[in-house]
Amino acid sequence: MRALTYHGPHKVRVETVPDPILHEPDDIILRVTATAICGSDLHLYRGKIPGTEHGEIFGHEFMGEVVEAGTAVTNVAIGDRVVVPFVIACGDCFFCHLHQYAACENTNSGRGAILNKKSITPPAALFGFSNLYGGVPGGQAEYVRVPKANVGPFKVPLALPDDKVLFLSDILPTAWQAVQNAGLEKGSSVAIFGAGPVGLLSAACARLVGAEEIFMIDHNNYRLAFARERYGVTPINFDDIDDPADWIIEHTKNHRGVDAVIDAVGFEAKGSLTETVLSNLKLEGSSGKALRQCIAAVRRGGIVSVPGVYAGFIHGFLFGDAFDKGLTFKMGQTHVQAYLPRLLSLIEQGLLTPEEIVTHHMPLEDAAHGYEIFEKRKEDCRKVILVPGMASQRAAS
Ligand SMILES: NC(=O)c1ccc[n+]([C@@H]2O[C@H](COP(=O)([O-])OP(=O)(O)OC[C@H]3O[C@@H](n4cnc5c(N)ncnc54)[C@H](O)[C@@H]3O)[C@@H](O)[C@H]2O)c1
Ligand SMILES: [Zn+2]
Ligand SMILES: [Zn+2]
Repeated sequence: MRALTYHGPHKVRVETVPDPILHEPDDIILRVTATAICGSDLHLYRGKIPGTEHGEIFGHEFMGEVVEAGTAVTNVAIGDRVVVPFVIACGDCFFCHLHQYAACENTNSGRGAILNKKSITPPAALFGFSNLYGGVPGGQAEYVRVPKANVGPFKVPLALPDDKVLFLSDILPTAWQAVQNAGLEKGSSVAIFGAGPVGLLSAACARLVGAEEIFMIDHNNYRLAFARERYGVTPINFDDIDDPADWIIEHTKNHRGVDAVIDAVGFEAKGSLTETVLSNLKLEGSSGKALRQCIAAVRRGGIVSVPGVYAGFIHGFLFGDAFDKGLTFKMGQTHVQAYLPRLLSLIEQGLLTPEEIVTHHMPLEDAAHGYEIFEKRKEDCRKVILVPGMASQRAAS
């Protein structure tokens, strides 16, 4: 089959690889009908995640049709159309019983990314996300093996096109969890750092729960303009306004700051040259630029919700400020399985229309181009959907 594979930083290509086969009785094989490129894939693409092997198949946002099923599969059947959560969970461990699927104790043969690990179990395996997360081949491919098929794959109605439901695999539940973690409700104010797909859908979810004022911070004007038009955010370009947190405080009542902040940027945050250089030299784990802004922009007693991915240590982390302000932090990979029925219902009712953020559909064959425009923010790219089997418009090279 054809699949998108990694060959070193910024080098990915679609090549022919062996077809996946069933390994366990509760595996299925899926024929992928749509798969997206995620901001998390960009960390891998840039070579920032240790344990990413040459030849690894990326992709953790995908859906398709079940074409083979192991003997122990009872939840789905051949012919079913399903969306697959990026988190692989057993459904039956301590954490799965708590619906904290991303902490599943039984699926990851890797070690996870935690530095001070002790003997704690690794978090759940993730599709296409390096050996740290199990080395499970991803779904930017024509076919993919899906382990734990009685727990993950989620049937979706035929009436809803792929674009509408594909993001149930990751970014929609991620945005939803970010908004739940932020404690947003009717009348809340929030600042969302990052106007990528996760930030944009966080704005959509924030509006749905009744947030009144949404500030959004980025430096891609085309993303900010979309967010202003579609979700009514107050955009702040950090290339123009050097200290967005200061600006936000100035523009909130009594200079209190916002009720909550959402960091939809993560460890590759731009804006601190020192941290970017130190992170590249591996002397710093993450850039703390967005997180420091979050801590500064939120009101006393407020909540910092962090869907953006972080790794290792940050030296410039103002924990004293967080203490002084009495902040709550909530973060982590998304417990995707926990949110799917609710989110599907919101899509069916037309209350969430996540497909609106998509700017590019392209054949799987053109996936390398998709990575390039998504990473370099070319062609006003917000989100790319790859379609296996769609005819390529690009000349073979
Ligand atoms: N928690 C989870 O389960 C989960 C799931 C999906 C994605 N993520 C993570 O969420 C983050 C965002 O994903 P995405 O798909 O939206 O990615 P993206 O790369 O498209 O978007 C990130 C945006 O942040 C902006 N940005 C960079 N530095 C900034 C700064 N200092 N302040 C404000 N904005 C800044 C960028 O310009 C970009 O538009 C990534 O870290 C990704 O790995 C986490
Ligand atoms: Zn993702
Ligand atoms: Zn489990």
